[in-house]
Amino acid sequence: MLLICICDLVFSQTINIIPMPKKVEMGKGFFTMNDNIAIYYNDPQLEFLAGYTSATIKSLNNLNLAIKQADGVQHNSQVIYLLIDKKVKTAKEGYLLSVNPAAITIRAATSQGMFYGVQSLLQLIPVDGDRKIPALEIADEPRFSWRGLMLDVSRHFFTIAEVKRLIDQMVFYKFNILHLHLTDDQGWRLEIKKLPNLTKVGAWRVPRTGLWWDRDCPQDGEEATYGGFYTQEEIKDLVKYAAKRNVNILPEIDIPGHSLAAIAAYPWLSSSKNTFKVNPGCKFYGIDDNTLCAGKESTFEFLNTVLTEVAELFPFEYIHIGGDECYKGFWKKCEDCQKVMNDNGLKDEKELQSYFVKRLEKLLQGKGKKLMGWDEILEGGLAPNATVMSWRGMEGGIAATKANHHVVMSPNDFAYLDLYQGDPAIEPPTYSLLRLNKVYDFEPVPAGVDSAFILGGQGNLWTESVPTFRQAEYMFWPRSFALAEILWSPRSYRNWPDFISRTEVHLQRLLRADINYSRSFFDAIVTPTKDRSGNLLIQLSTEIEELTIYYTFDNTYPDHHSMLYIKGEKLSIPKDADTFRVITYREGKPIGRIITIPVVDLAKRIK
Ligand code: ACM
Repeated sequence: MLLICICDLVFSQTINIIPMPKKVEMGKGFFTMNDNIAIYYNDPQLEFLAGYTSATIKSLNNLNLAIKQADGVQHNSQVIYLLIDKKVKTAKEGYLLSVNPAAITIRAATSQGMFYGVQSLLQLIPVDGDRKIPALEIADEPRFSWRGLMLDVSRHFFTIAEVKRLIDQMVFYKFNILHLHLTDDQGWRLEIKKLPNLTKVGAWRVPRTGLWWDRDCPQDGEEATYGGFYTQEEIKDLVKYAAKRNVNILPEIDIPGHSLAAIAAYPWLSSSKNTFKVNPGCKFYGIDDNTLCAGKESTFEFLNTVLTEVAELFPFEYIHIGGDECYKGFWKKCEDCQKVMNDNGLKDEKELQSYFVKRLEKLLQGKGKKLMGWDEILEGGLAPNATVMSWRGMEGGIAATKANHHVVMSPNDFAYLDLYQGDPAIEPPTYSLLRLNKVYDFEPVPAGVDSAFILGGQGNLWTESVPTFRQAEYMFWPRSFALAEILWSPRSYRNWPDFISRTEVHLQRLLRADINYSRSFFDAIVTPTKDRSGNLLIQLSTEIEELTIYYTFDNTYPDHHSMLYIKGEKLSIPKDADTFRVITYREGKPIGRIITIPVVDLAKRIK
């Protein structure tokens, strides 16, 4: 066992695949790519994939590879084979990839497996334009079947072209679920033919920039010009695009809370029946009524209409109904809600939410769909067959597995991609911190939990502070590399230094493809503490090994002539110093960014 692990480490120095494949054996020599190579496939269902492979190789290495369908082995000098082979014994998404000087052969029992074999092959093509692929044998399959990323398209709107671009990026790392958070207080993004106001009104809000939650609420007479929505035709096209790339789209209609955009469109949906405007990121929670009334049949008729159209548009077996952070204050004052509670013997508003979700589960089952919700759907009693997406840590997920329910783990402390990934002094404003090394420590199966109930995990990008797709990319990468490896590779393969060396190669790929990413993991980590007398001290560290840290207190910008930080040292603040600056170097060259923090702000960071 030990030997195998050591071998894997050595191999990974020469191949830069993320996520790390389950089994790699290096061979002798190379397969050298050139324009005369053809891609042969043995099954008509692979025609798209063969074209995709050729087009991607063209974009990576400017080679033109012909594609041909053929059953038998060819005798050209060099060939890439994509062969569906029912005898291959791997998990459904597994594949075998063989490279020798004469041929590259991918065998898989399914087109999904073949798709991932192709992704590994594409990652084997050197990023620097070299055309040599090392001889090797890979046998690979995923650890989890649910490998998801979530994009919140409500808080900020992203076009179909941008969503497709995300799909292109995520499949390179073998993600297979794209969760779209389609509705929230700040925008309804899906055309529902029978309820046109949802997008006529609910998809638009007054334009604001500035810090989320500090923005001005809509003023009387102000035009709602920021927003957008997806037509049903666009969604059909997107679903097809995703399916060809082995991605299921999980639609989320977030109810009964987080529903202000729907209520702005149809005010009768709320218990208070007041009219509200779509929220542009101003404070409103508990003030404006953003909760659907759980006491009126018309609410369920509305949801039946919405979910009928959603079920027809999205072929995935799950529909996510949200269920998180539902403010129930208006239900307390609502006669209809209180009557339903009385009639059904519900002791509090949590049980009313449970009643609401259970009704939705029945409704969805009638449409052949499974219900998924955030872990708040546990409160007041879980619907009989619900699947839980655990976000407030893992506790909700653990409780659900104990009750024999399926779970997707997306805990906010390991998988929330909207959090800072480096020092808040130099990152775009958000809240709380989730560095790359912490993501890499995520383990979706907690001790004592039956792994059979854990479908997998997911990284979530909430977009309150993500106004552009460029910024979304910055938040996804490279933290989603870490998630990809956690969700695909065997648990025993975690190896931080090795992961980082592969990450650095992949950042070059992103750079070439003009995909944005964060380099925050190269920066220093600044940790203020206090001594026994209450004096401020600073400790410095880095996420990755072999970095040198230089710092200043004298208002100059640090370089390799500045003060050298000695590992473990606690720096005291020189008298009257007002600004601390720090930078990281590697092999004599700056690699991290300069972080500038006023001393008064350092003091404030200590709780
Ligand atoms: C959530 O973050 N409210 C699911």
